[in-house]
Amino acid sequence: MSIQWFPGHMNAAKKKAEESMADTDVVIEVLDARLPEASCNPLVERMRVFRQRPCLKILNKSDLADPVATALWASYYNAQDNVTAYPMTTKKPSDVARIVTLCKQLAPHRGVPTKPLRIMIMGIPNVGKSTLMNALLKRRVAKVGDEPAVTKTQQRIYLDQHTVLIDTPGLMWPKIDMDSDGLMLAASHAIGSNALIEEEVAVFLAEVLLERYPNLLAARYGLKTEGMDGVAVVEGVGMKRGFRVKGGDLDFEKSAHVLLHDYRSGALGRISLETPQSRAERLARHAAEMQEKAERAAAIAAAKAEEAARGKRGS
Ligand code: G4P
Repeated sequence: MSIQWFPGHMNAAKKKAEESMADTDVVIEVLDARLPEASCNPLVERMRVFRQRPCLKILNKSDLADPVATALWASYYNAQDNVTAYPMTTKKPSDVARIVTLCKQLAPHRGVPTKPLRIMIMGIPNVGKSTLMNALLKRRVAKVGDEPAVTKTQQRIYLDQHTVLIDTPGLMWPKIDMDSDGLMLAASHAIGSNALIEEEVAVFLAEVLLERYPNLLAARYGLKTEGMDGVAVVEGVGMKRGFRVKGGDLDFEKSAHVLLHDYRSGALGRISLETPQSRAERLARHAAEMQEKAERAAAIAAAKAEEAARGKRGS
């Protein structure tokens, strides 16, 4: 399975972002603290590194993320050149209030009336960019919504005399390499519900929860998780809640929906879907799978060439 969703307006957004990057001093990349790398757009990262722009990596929605995992991610990003990590939540005005100061530290030569500090806000849909803009400006300038890709046009707003904010449309990238990234994004609602089947997403989420947070499943649904797999967890949620379709069978769809909703709203607890270590392990597994696939393809091509050569010799 490879997940494709690159609506037409995304191409235009990418071009615009590339142009704006040239006139930017600091890039704020808004990530979802629960899945920082899966929610990091490699296109943005490439553009930024190419232009050598410093970056404030905001680990947003940290109110929903596991604080231990968030601390690990902050150290991970702070170790990178030209990067400051900032775990925060747009729900806390005091968190928002620190952002401009952190940006100024990344571009100390800017921020005077003749040379205003130009800040570009980027990030994939639904990580909280519009909410952040509104909080920074303390008034409503961008439409906030939980359906992906609500912010479609670019906005340029003076925060004060010395600081300009550039908001860009939520940017996705043409293809997500790892299936698990697509599933994490769908679980966290960065991908619309029609891009992936909710039930598949819920089973994936249940597997992550079994591995990392079985106690939260027990606490919320009273499940004894030992020996369970993802499907059994979703079924367990439905059975505990009595979700039945006509005829009495378990309503798997509703059970999946409730599990996802409880994760998205934070009702299940503070959960992170990845850590720097789990990310490294997934990447290594993915690289090994890709290698195996390439070797298989090469062996098939060699066998075909051999067969063709034999045919030629025989004729
Ligand atoms: P975007 O511009 O990047 O696409 O995202 P947007 O600001 O529209 O935010 C998407 C959803 O994420 C919104 O929820 C918003 O409230 C929520 N959100 C943003 N920042 C945070 C945060 O730090 N913590 C939490 N828990 N949620 C955050 P929504 O479902 O549309 O509804 P509502 O919360 O506004 O009612």
